[in-house]
Amino acid sequence: MKKILSVSLTASLISLSCANENNKEQTNSFRSLNLHPVSATLAPEVLEMKYFADRRARLFEQIPDNSVVVLPSHSEIISSYDQNYSFRQDSNFYYMTGFNEPDSVAVLVKNGQEHKFILFVRPNDPLREQWNGYRAGLEGAKTQYLADESYEFSDFDTKILEILNNQDMLYFDLGSHKEYDTKAISWLEVINNPRTRINSKPLQIASIGNITLEMRLIKDDYEQYLIEKASKISAAAHTKVMQAALTANHEYELEAEFRYETAKFGATKQSYEPIVGAGRNTTVLHYIENDADIQRTDLVLIDAGAEYMNYATDITRTFPASGKFSEEQKQIYNIVLKAQLAGIEQIKPGHTYDQMNKAILPVLVEGLVEVGLLDANGKSVEQLIEENAYRPFYMHSCCHWVGLDVHDPSSQKVNGKFRELKPGMVLTVEPGLYINDTIKDIDSKWINIGVRIEDTVLVTEDGYKILTKDVPKQLSEVEQVVSGQ
Ligand code: GLY
Ligand code: MN
Ligand code: MN
Repeated sequence: MKKILSVSLTASLISLSCANENNKEQTNSFRSLNLHPVSATLAPEVLEMKYFADRRARLFEQIPDNSVVVLPSHSEIISSYDQNYSFRQDSNFYYMTGFNEPDSVAVLVKNGQEHKFILFVRPNDPLREQWNGYRAGLEGAKTQYLADESYEFSDFDTKILEILNNQDMLYFDLGSHKEYDTKAISWLEVINNPRTRINSKPLQIASIGNITLEMRLIKDDYEQYLIEKASKISAAAHTKVMQAALTANHEYELEAEFRYETAKFGATKQSYEPIVGAGRNTTVLHYIENDADIQRTDLVLIDAGAEYMNYATDITRTFPASGKFSEEQKQIYNIVLKAQLAGIEQIKPGHTYDQMNKAILPVLVEGLVEVGLLDANGKSVEQLIEENAYRPFYMHSCCHWVGLDVHDPSSQKVNGKFRELKPGMVLTVEPGLYINDTIKDIDSKWINIGVRIEDTVLVTEDGYKILTKDVPKQLSEVEQVVSGQ
């Protein structure tokens, strides 16, 4: 049985070489994906499965002896009669396994020095595979994904009772897989039945979320590499979209361009539905219809990021459809840009999560007062912020974590206090101003100007790295790229 004893990457390499001695082939499933390294520190196509093994080793370190962790995959979801939505794996399951098939469960068992990784998967089935695509099968679960044991998914409900017998703790993602919540209660009923119980003490149940989400907050080298790759592909696509905008007459033309330019480089899925809004639609935060006409006097706001091997990125740029900002568009753009740069400047280890917002708000409020959109009435910027006077123009927060999910679910606060930033965290900075006809008593010249500027940023040892920096952002540069002059 393979033992994964250690937390570091080097140590997980050692555990993998033990695995090889046990006739486990050191293969990985990503070899065909042509991962050109973006950083010299990460050799291409070699280390991937070790990272997943390392994560499992770190998870084992954080749970007590005699614990079982159950992580279910997602299932296929029907979109319409006989058709499914495009499959997207459960992020927590993927993080620990790298396994991208539906109808699977990972079970981690810790008994003393014995740390077992069990995968329940769909078995190989030539007929089904001919119709619906390849499966790793029970052998692949062990040789490719380094499981110590593998079983058919259909055996899970009976096998799990054997696994849980004589264990103290059951961990799983309470609340995120409803059917497993119900199953877990039924396992407890069986295992803890006083008449049949073998355990000396009842099995307890706890959520694994606190542990996995803390782990997911700090991205390892491999994750940083994948997010950077998603970011670079998406940044190049945003630039292409800007170059195509001058002759585009419908929002969907630009959406199509973005999807094409990302898929072409291997990022065949999107981290979220692209938001492509022109004119008034720039003021609708999560506008995804993308089917309206573009007028040449419009601003166009594009919030889009492709996914690369399940890792997200998040970019927004706003530009004039004519290639030239109007005076009012220019003023709003420059306020948002100044706010965004001020927010990014706050990113460094030791600073807290709220410091970006604290830097952004005064810039937005001062700007709104300066151009006459906000009447200060003798009040200070601090008072206006205190009173939320900016809310009709800016109604969302500045930042969120990014990782396997575009809104990566780790918390912003710990014990009621905003977190300190640490190297390896990835987050967005995305202030905006949105002006439409729902705002009372403003000059009509401002109406239908919506601007958001968003980058995905990595916290580094001494500050930050903007992973999406390759898309034009300075006003003159944006005009140049869109107008082609
Ligand atoms: N793309 C969604 C967001 O910016 O949060
Ligand atoms: Mn975002
Ligand atoms: Mn976004």
